[in-house]
Amino acid sequence: MLRLINIGKLYGITDNNSPKTGNDLAVVNCLEHAYLDFKHGRIAGFGLMKDIPEHTENISYHDVKNGIVLPGFIDCHTHLVFAESRENEFVDRLKGLSYQEIAERGGGILNSAAKLAAMSEDELFENAQHRLQKLIKYGTTAIEIKSGYGLNTEAELKMLRVIKRLKENNAIPIKSTFLGAHAFPALYKNNPEQYVDLIVNEMLPRVVNERLADYVDAFCEQGYFSVEQTERIVQKAAEYGLKARLHVNQFNSFGAIEMAAKNGVLSVEHLEEMTQTDLETLAESGMYGVALPACSFFLQIPYTPARKLILANVPLVLASDFNPGSSPTGNLNFVWSLACIYMKMLPEEAFNALTINAANALEIADQVGSIAIGKKATILISHSAASLNSFPYHFGESLINEVFVDGYLVG
Ligand code: NIG
Ligand code: FE
Repeated sequence: MLRLINIGKLYGITDNNSPKTGNDLAVVNCLEHAYLDFKHGRIAGFGLMKDIPEHTENISYHDVKNGIVLPGFIDCHTHLVFAESRENEFVDRLKGLSYQEIAERGGGILNSAAKLAAMSEDELFENAQHRLQKLIKYGTTAIEIKSGYGLNTEAELKMLRVIKRLKENNAIPIKSTFLGAHAFPALYKNNPEQYVDLIVNEMLPRVVNERLADYVDAFCEQGYFSVEQTERIVQKAAEYGLKARLHVNQFNSFGAIEMAAKNGVLSVEHLEEMTQTDLETLAESGMYGVALPACSFFLQIPYTPARKLILANVPLVLASDFNPGSSPTGNLNFVWSLACIYMKMLPEEAFNALTINAANALEIADQVGSIAIGKKATILISHSAASLNSFPYHFGESLINEVFVDGYLVG
């Protein structure tokens, strides 16, 4: 057994795994002067130092020296597998082009797809593994990863196989999402319906048959996949038992949320453009609302109206959207800062959105997302933070010094 002793503040203790909403989103339970026990990779006990149990077996000690302990962060929306960064487009945007204008000129997602086509599966894996290791040091200890830079059957399967290898090579929970409907390849420009046929009739059956995806996704947006096309994909995936998490309302509100609510979609993500009807439909549906403030920051587009979602009792989640086009960072410490500074979330609200709510959105809240007996011994230690407020306050930094995954110190 491993016992963490002299914990200054132990944050994120929960007595149930439910997502937090409304006023409860700001509630974070904390023990001061605490210990925490790990056994067989799980949390076996915790309490106040003054109540520390007698030695009953071999115990190793890890002195936290008055530092802070948190449950690990969870990133429920990433495009971690990609071939290359897209700095040229970044500079084009600085010169005045918009994200959509760049995409219309063949840049954007199609640019990433061309680069991915030219890269071997091994090299893609090595690159993604390197990125993931860096993220774990920043405190990301469970992650969702999408395909979507393949855009043909073989390349989509190649991406999903890379995600499968990441699952096999890392101890943290990883969920994979099939995003064949990320953009229309040039070949189908004049016949987009044929590409949707390909997704539904060829890609999805192969993905399911090879058990390569936990979820399905689509970029439901003007100029990308229409509400009807997205619904077709969602319904076909449901026949195969795959739930959907969808990119919606990034640039336009055009009925995607209503369709998602009707079809039992698990989460709607982005939500930068929200009408009152969208908000009410989302609130009634029970779907998770995922905000991606690093994308808003990088593209200089509106932020998700987080306060409105909180007041409407939507289970709000924060994620990085790590991808080479709209959010080239997976650093959730920075996402935490952006959520507070631009969306006026309280540090506690953003913390819950990055931990217990994100765990629920990935359907792994029984394993991770909070400090509770039986959950994975996956936690973060900070020696420099004074309280939860320190993390978003020191924007651009990571105050995480040590990361334990399943009871082992990994970073
Ligand atoms: O979530 N919006 C669609 N997909 C990504 C961007 C992908 C890209 O530009 O490569 C996003 O922002
Ligand atoms: Fe995304």
